[in-house]
Amino acid sequence: MTELTHPLATVPRDELVARAEADPHRPRFHFVSPAGWLNDPNGVGQWNGTYHLFYQYNPEGAFHHRILWGHATSQDLVRWTDQPVALEPTPGPDADGCWSGVLVNDRGTPTLVYSGRHGERELPCVATGSPDLLAWTKSDANPVIPGPPAGVEITAYRDHCVWREGSRWRQVVGSGIRGRGGTAFLYESEDLRAWRYVGPLLIGDASASDPADSSWEGTMWECVDLFRAGTGTLGDGADGGGGQSLDALVFSAWDDGATRHPLYWTGRYSGDSFTPQALHRLDYGGRYFYAPQSFADDSCRRVMFGWLQEGRTEEAVVASGWSGVMSLPRVATLNPAGELEFAPVPEVESLRHGHIRLGPQAVSGFKVVDGVEGNQLDLELDLELEPGSVFRLGVLGTPSGTRDMAEETVVEVGYHVGGGGAEGSYVLLDRTRSSLDTSVDTGELAGPVALPGGGLRLRVIVDHSALEVFANGKPLTARAYPTLGGGSVRISAAGIVRLRQLDAWRMEDVFDGPRPLFP
Ligand code: FRU
Repeated sequence: MTELTHPLATVPRDELVARAEADPHRPRFHFVSPAGWLNDPNGVGQWNGTYHLFYQYNPEGAFHHRILWGHATSQDLVRWTDQPVALEPTPGPDADGCWSGVLVNDRGTPTLVYSGRHGERELPCVATGSPDLLAWTKSDANPVIPGPPAGVEITAYRDHCVWREGSRWRQVVGSGIRGRGGTAFLYESEDLRAWRYVGPLLIGDASASDPADSSWEGTMWECVDLFRAGTGTLGDGADGGGGQSLDALVFSAWDDGATRHPLYWTGRYSGDSFTPQALHRLDYGGRYFYAPQSFADDSCRRVMFGWLQEGRTEEAVVASGWSGVMSLPRVATLNPAGELEFAPVPEVESLRHGHIRLGPQAVSGFKVVDGVEGNQLDLELDLELEPGSVFRLGVLGTPSGTRDMAEETVVEVGYHVGGGGAEGSYVLLDRTRSSLDTSVDTGELAGPVALPGGGLRLRVIVDHSALEVFANGKPLTARAYPTLGGGSVRISAAGIVRLRQLDAWRMEDVFDGPRPLFP
């Protein structure tokens, strides 16, 4: 084990777990690292029935440095068993970190393709696993690609999406071309070791929108994830008739060290390029659902995980002993409009207990939802909004009996009627009163949501500081840090809103107690 050398390693390692466990903001049914730092999901997949989740991990403290691959397994995507660290930096191409990558099945051999960091540079590396995926051996051929394509000035170069196509492997590596935009460089190989550069799969245009926009493409694409959304398989030559077999190219827009937001192109991957159709926002929480990675499980579901970053100051994060939350696994499906929609995997419902139901009623004024209180909740609402109305659901509210709603985090859905008769609707997370702590991020997060016939299915998952909202399948993921231990829930409306049904459950913990930093 290496010594504590980093200036942010101010919490002794043997205190990290206790600090993390004592933090009221720490989620209890989302996956988190035992303590220390967690970022991207890596190597997500299902192997002989067992689900595997690897993740960017720094057990030295709650800061990003000398990254390892943590590892956990699950039978149901919900309850996780910690496994030994899978990859750790060693002298050579990954001496300064084992950065993001994927798991593939190489004719029966579990194989990781990841970015080895050495100095300020990342290069593609490979490691093979034991049949139980618990012991990993790095390839002597690392780095398996000696450098970025020659003759292009790149902004950065890392992260992998690897798939089998016919008799060969293909992969894209995330990058950016200076002065132009983000890109994904396409390669192919017979054996995952010797790679031939094919060309850029697609080059983004960083000047296409304002850098302040929530759909700005960034100057580099991190964690590119290419998959078939809808029927068929990637590269099967299907023509995409009827929009049933679009491809999705997911990436996280990055700019000079700033992690901006996840986006995706829909379009058609064919031959050596991706013909884009439209650019979409993947999650309206922006940096709070970053670096997602997905896989097709044994039942052919497209399951995606993302990293929920923190919204506290670096100082507060380091002192808390832990950082970073993994999203609940969510299933991606393609809707008739050719956009992705998401819902938490149904397995999450096995954590529910203490069911409360509110029957059909009109919503007007403020109403506290009696009997529903706490920081671990799953809420499902079925609503009908008239044009011109707004519905609000307040969570993490000041507990009744203490100060009057000094804190509350509000999910708002509005059904606008524009001046010209145009209709628009949105979901918004109002965090302005989410915390009395003025140092935490309370910025507004929002995005458009279609409300066909005024109908809204709203799912809101609250796990202490982690929030996942799904409004008619559009996700908005975020963090909130109430100081008063808030747990009350209330609904309100302006205009005409009918609540067809509200179902609420408390959610169980998924870990029994403190977990060792090195399982
Ligand atoms: C995304 C990312 C990746 C990189 C990893 C390092 O959050 O920056 O591009 O591989 O995290 O931890």
